[in-house]
Amino acid sequence: MSPSRFSCEMGKSIALLVLLEFTLALTETVLDLNGEWLVWSGKGRSRDAARMENDLYPAKVPGNVYSDLMRNGTLVGDAYYRFNDEEFRWVSKRNWTFWNTFDAPDFFEYRHEAVLLKCEGLDTVGEVFVNDISVGTFDNQFVTYYFDIKHAIKVGNSNIILVDFQSPVNYASDQYNNHLRKRGYVVPPACPPPELHGECHPNFIRKAQHSFAWDWGPAYPTVGIWRNISVIAFNTSVIEAVTTSTVFSQSTGNWSLKLVVYLLGTPRKTPQNIDLTIDGPQLNVSRTENITISSSSENFTFTYELDGKVTEKWWPNGYGKQKLYSVTVTTSSNRTGETSKKELRIAFRTVELVQEPLAKPNVTGLTFYFRVNGVNIWAKGSNWIPAHSFQNEVTEDYVTWLLQSTVDANMNMLRVWGGGFYESDFFYRKCDELGILIWQDFMFACAMYPTTEDFLASVRQEVRSNVLRLQHHPSIALWSGNNENEVAFVENWYFTQSKSDVYKRDYIKLYVDTIRDEYSKYEIDSRPWIPSSPTNGKLTEEEGWIAKDPRSNLYGDAHFYAYNVNPWNWTIYPATRFASEYGFQSWESIETLKNFTKPEDLSYYSRWANHRQHHPLGQTEVLYEIAQNFKLPNLLERAKAFPTMVYLTQINQAMALKTETEFYRRMQSTILANSAGFSKGALYWQLNSIWPSPSWSSVEFGGKWKMSHYYAKDFFKPVLASPYEQDGYLCISLVNDLLTEVEVGMTIQLFAWQSFEPRFKNSDKKWPAAQSAETVYQRNVTGLLDNGDCARREDCFLVVSLEGKDFQSAPNVHFFAPPKHCPLPLANLSVADVHASDDTGSTFDITIKTDKIALFVWIEAIGTPGRFSKNGFLQYRPQEQVQFFARGTTTVESLRRGLTVVSLKNHW
Ligand SMILES: *[C@@H]1O[C@H](CO)[C@@H](O)[C@H](O)[C@H]1NC(C)=O
Ligand SMILES: *[C@@H]1O[C@H](CO)[C@@H](O)[C@H](O)[C@H]1NC(C)=O
Ligand SMILES: *[C@@H]1O[C@H](CO)[C@@H](O)[C@H](O)[C@H]1NC(C)=O
Ligand SMILES: *[C@@H]1O[C@H](CO)[C@@H](O)[C@H](O)[C@H]1NC(C)=O
Ligand SMILES: *[C@@H]1O[C@H](CO)[C@@H](O)[C@H](O)[C@H]1NC(C)=O
Ligand SMILES: *[C@@H]1O[C@H](CO)[C@@H](O)[C@H](O)[C@H]1NC(C)=O
Ligand SMILES: *[C@@H]1O[C@H](CO)[C@@H](O)[C@H](O)[C@H]1NC(C)=O
Ligand SMILES: *[C@@H]1O[C@H](CO)[C@@H](O)[C@H](O)[C@H]1NC(C)=O
Repeated sequence: MSPSRFSCEMGKSIALLVLLEFTLALTETVLDLNGEWLVWSGKGRSRDAARMENDLYPAKVPGNVYSDLMRNGTLVGDAYYRFNDEEFRWVSKRNWTFWNTFDAPDFFEYRHEAVLLKCEGLDTVGEVFVNDISVGTFDNQFVTYYFDIKHAIKVGNSNIILVDFQSPVNYASDQYNNHLRKRGYVVPPACPPPELHGECHPNFIRKAQHSFAWDWGPAYPTVGIWRNISVIAFNTSVIEAVTTSTVFSQSTGNWSLKLVVYLLGTPRKTPQNIDLTIDGPQLNVSRTENITISSSSENFTFTYELDGKVTEKWWPNGYGKQKLYSVTVTTSSNRTGETSKKELRIAFRTVELVQEPLAKPNVTGLTFYFRVNGVNIWAKGSNWIPAHSFQNEVTEDYVTWLLQSTVDANMNMLRVWGGGFYESDFFYRKCDELGILIWQDFMFACAMYPTTEDFLASVRQEVRSNVLRLQHHPSIALWSGNNENEVAFVENWYFTQSKSDVYKRDYIKLYVDTIRDEYSKYEIDSRPWIPSSPTNGKLTEEEGWIAKDPRSNLYGDAHFYAYNVNPWNWTIYPATRFASEYGFQSWESIETLKNFTKPEDLSYYSRWANHRQHHPLGQTEVLYEIAQNFKLPNLLERAKAFPTMVYLTQINQAMALKTETEFYRRMQSTILANSAGFSKGALYWQLNSIWPSPSWSSVEFGGKWKMSHYYAKDFFKPVLASPYEQDGYLCISLVNDLLTEVEVGMTIQLFAWQSFEPRFKNSDKKWPAAQSAETVYQRNVTGLLDNGDCARREDCFLVVSLEGKDFQSAPNVHFFAPPKHCPLPLANLSVADVHASDDTGSTFDITIKTDKIALFVWIEAIGTPGRFSKNGFLQYRPQEQVQFFARGTTTVESLRRGLTVVSLKNHW
């Protein structure tokens, strides 16, 4: 490691010091205020009054009032049980006050120049009092607030902290009305469609937008102190944040590393000299600087040049390792003996968003893909939504499971969608470790937004807080201004056309003049920015920030949804440059739903099912789609039909996502006559589920994989054989995402449903080039079926499998006809054997036996959380080996007790 050059850009002359070893006396003083609080309804009301009226509840901080009231039993049952989203509705219509006392050790008052109340998440609007003195107001859930409380705090015990919250629902509606009165125009949409059972005007409150309801989630407009709260006290300064940038120079082969340290100073503002130490032992960047701090917020920049040959790069999953380097930044004052410390893990990687003309004559449009460390990345992944309505219920274990499931399904990117949260630090640390690139939206979704001075000032604070907090994570690959607001405006979703000048002006004011302007103060050459998703990227910018057609397949990213279609027909899908959203709904398993329902709820059109299905006409659309390929059960046999419907919705979703995603992957090297194609990314909607419900997720609430997640694992494999039909031909495309050509043994087998013996088998060697897709096989379907003695399309199916030493593959199946027309045999399926793979208690080998070919074989391990190595497959061999990976540990006996296996024919 050779840091050949070191420079410091502080705009001040600073002496360079060698790192000195000395003992640090005092760290910054932190008083944690998390823990047991009290809460009552009625802002301004006293605690004694609340106590008298028996309206005083124990509260947990961090948390929210719904969780507190459920714990207390005032809200009866689970928030996700049956119709409780309606039953619990009154909570968000009230004002709430959180109350606590704390002891302030004597040094707080007289030994510290700065005493700040640090609130990392206040949800959402209200005022903070310390000892009856108002110390500040707040109106944004996403801001880290620092309130000066030195004048209010008392030495000793019995300091009282009181945080008053307004009803988020009433506040939003008041803001809407004020805006209408003062500015004379509506900021739409006013209210969500009735199917959402939601609240109105989420766009008027800086709070997770989904919390007023979404088409996959309930209205739980939470109230409370949802992230950490503490008092910090210091005499010189504390480190607020450290941002980083890593730029690689082709000419020197070196990395330029930049660290910007943000310090909070004391309000006193007398210049003070302190030592700022950067310690990065693995990088050999350790230095101590004598700096002068003279205001309440300052930043200091350090740049280093590091030898590219010894500095290991960070790669997305599937492209290499995720090397992380730890760096510690410390400030210390000789005068006060005070220190402040921040540890972070940084990484060396570059990210570009490549938007260039395609090197082919007469092609319109620009490319849109990510390039990391100079290597073009085929983005494979999904969209992340909040893991729970109550963030205090989201455990690190659950986040780890979901992110590990992402990697286990061969993904390399997640989009953190703009209607939820800037996620927890833990989330991004895990993504750094796992190599999951993050497409990070700013939290604005599906709405127009106000642009009053107060609103924009709050948004600026929000951007500052979150960019400072998250910027150093190598996983974050892109910032995006919002979700679908550009396309909503252009397509007049919310009737904005009559005043389009006003809404366009507001749009630019918010996303360009405010968000982009603010984030660019803190972001330093580390990643690209786009104004919206979907957007035309560069073209959007050229067209004045709102493109004529944000949905264009020839520029930027695209969101595409199709309902009431046959989703197995790949020709319905557009060949976009980058599909950042697309998807299909399915229901969650009975096992997941059971805890939240009564038996009578579990039928496809029950009152409860209709209530929980938030997507207008969702139930009927899915039914229509299923009917394209399957016989439907008799829905009048309500309870009996429901398990079949759950299974069929999951198959429908899995096959649909497979068909669409494989199409995008096949299109990676092709440019069509209409200039579409050259697809470089597929992020389906959506990874996770916020509550037990029908949704587009591939993982159920709680973490159980749906069939589509097992399919994602296969359709995202780096080397894929994808069969499809075109113009009467059966074609096979070989997709290779690896950085080298590979040798592939490709075997095609044609089966009739009645026999394990293929009608014919054909093996061949192929050499798919690096990072390409190419059709390597084409055969007239009629000829192919004749060759296998298949009288009709429905008599046979085809399996293509790959073998090679540099990759793992899974057999891929092509149906010549919808299963509803096929003579499927009735298979006797069974779990023949279960034994432990090793002595960890978490990995098991399972043998599935069948006497006939079985379609959509679905195994469940009821009562044992975990996942299988594969599921939902076509079993064309008498025995199939499957592994089970438990989320914790279990025993063979306990696992075996809950194992069930079915196939399509069992359901008919
Ligand atoms: C719930 O709160 C009420 C009112 O303060 C209190 O009387 C009761 O003991 C609490 N119950 C539980 C289970 O915490
Ligand atoms: C909640 O607080 C607001 C703002 O102080 C006040 O206008 C409103 O009347 C209160 N609402 C209720 C239900 O107490
Ligand atoms: C603090 O003390 C150390 C050890 O005596 C000295 O090397 C350093 O220069 C001092 N720093 C400042 C800012 O005074
Ligand atoms: C630190 O820098 C200040 C101002 O540049 C200077 O006055 C002071 O002597 C320096 N202290 C040390 C220990 O180098
Ligand atoms: C960082 O410090 C420089 C120089 O003191 C100042 O001009 C700049 O505004 C600061 N940046 C931010 C984002 O506060
Ligand atoms: C490009 O388009 C023009 C006009 O349609 C046509 O004359 C020309 O042959 C095309 N060039 C190529 C290389 O296809
Ligand atoms: C697939 O969809 C296209 C329209 O995009 C239609 O023309 C074609 O008939 C469909 N094919 C099948 C097999 O349904
Ligand atoms: C259902 O509830 C039981 C009892 O509380 C619990 O043990 C189980 O994990 C829950 N199952 C699911 C799928 O949430």
